[in-house]
Amino acid sequence: MDGLDSLKSKYLESIASAADESALEDLRLAAVGKKGEVSLKMRELGKMTPEERQVAGPALNALKNEINSALAAKKEALGDAALDERLRTEWIDVSLTGRPRRQGTIHPVSQVTEEVIAIFADLGYSVAEGPQIESDYYNFDALNLAPEHPARQEHDTFYMHREEGDNRPPHVLRTHTSPVQIRYMEKHGVPCRIIAPGRVYRADYDQTHTPMFHQYEGLCIDKDVSMANLKWTLEEFCRAFFQVDGIELRFRASHFPFTEPSAEVDIRCSWKGGQLKLGEGDDWMEILGSGMVHPKVLQAAGVDPDQWQGFAFGMGIDRIAMLKYGMPDLRAFFDSDLRWLRHYGFSALDMPTMHGGICG
Ligand code: DAH
Repeated sequence: MDGLDSLKSKYLESIASAADESALEDLRLAAVGKKGEVSLKMRELGKMTPEERQVAGPALNALKNEINSALAAKKEALGDAALDERLRTEWIDVSLTGRPRRQGTIHPVSQVTEEVIAIFADLGYSVAEGPQIESDYYNFDALNLAPEHPARQEHDTFYMHREEGDNRPPHVLRTHTSPVQIRYMEKHGVPCRIIAPGRVYRADYDQTHTPMFHQYEGLCIDKDVSMANLKWTLEEFCRAFFQVDGIELRFRASHFPFTEPSAEVDIRCSWKGGQLKLGEGDDWMEILGSGMVHPKVLQAAGVDPDQWQGFAFGMGIDRIAMLKYGMPDLRAFFDSDLRWLRHYGFSALDMPTMHGGICG
């Protein structure tokens, strides 16, 4: 068969000098691809006499194999060269001193959570946690919210999906941090002094509500803890946290199924000109619910209410962050807008401690 030698030298030379993998692929198609030169020659075998075919067939096959192995060898060599090139360009001198980079910032919610923990640590409280996907029992029943209790509806609860035909109560995204009270006492018993910060969920959305927000729960149980201790603790906290002269709290009698008696606490603020300011103005912003833990709640957690008593409270972390740092819209907290994060974010080195000072 004519021309096989020139085909061979043409392709072997081109393969040897191919610059990269895509050039190599073009060559493969041109030679041994479906419509490649070698493949077309193979088709001619059909028109030959048996004698001619006996010579041309093996010669063509040999050519095809030679080209294929040249392609494979070159491909490997190019891969090695690419790796060498990467290793050369991605080389780092680990002994160089660090270069300053744009720093990330600490989100106000994280910062405020740390501040709260530092203040309560100083008052002898430790930190507890509970799951965000909570059972109906811990979120409601154990907290004296029976299934028919109207307050269940007020929580705008997100329910988890249940399989068709599964009649157990669905799990919920916890609507408050209060279930941690039960979980903690069940596991660790009393006396106790804890705070439990974390995410909570309710179907609500406006300037001061988002479907996910943050609360922290406080719980203090001992033999003779009273409402007076609760009031002192909350006032002490607010003084340490807000660090504003003339801060004013308002205790309002209220009702929660898990406390008796119950009180809500508002803080004086002003919304003038779209700016949220603390310790002035004629508005009140609710920041927490509180009260003396209901005997039934203690019982549900395996604690004898004839021997033990104490207070609990639940405070909105985002709310107190807005108040302290003058941020008027809660929704912006969760928009991930870099301009907002740079403006309101905190330096990673600005760690709140009681000895170093809470950030102000
Ligand atoms: N769990 C309540 C809520 O989210 C807040 C609350 C009120 C917590 C009274 C308490 C409490 O511990 O005693 O609205």
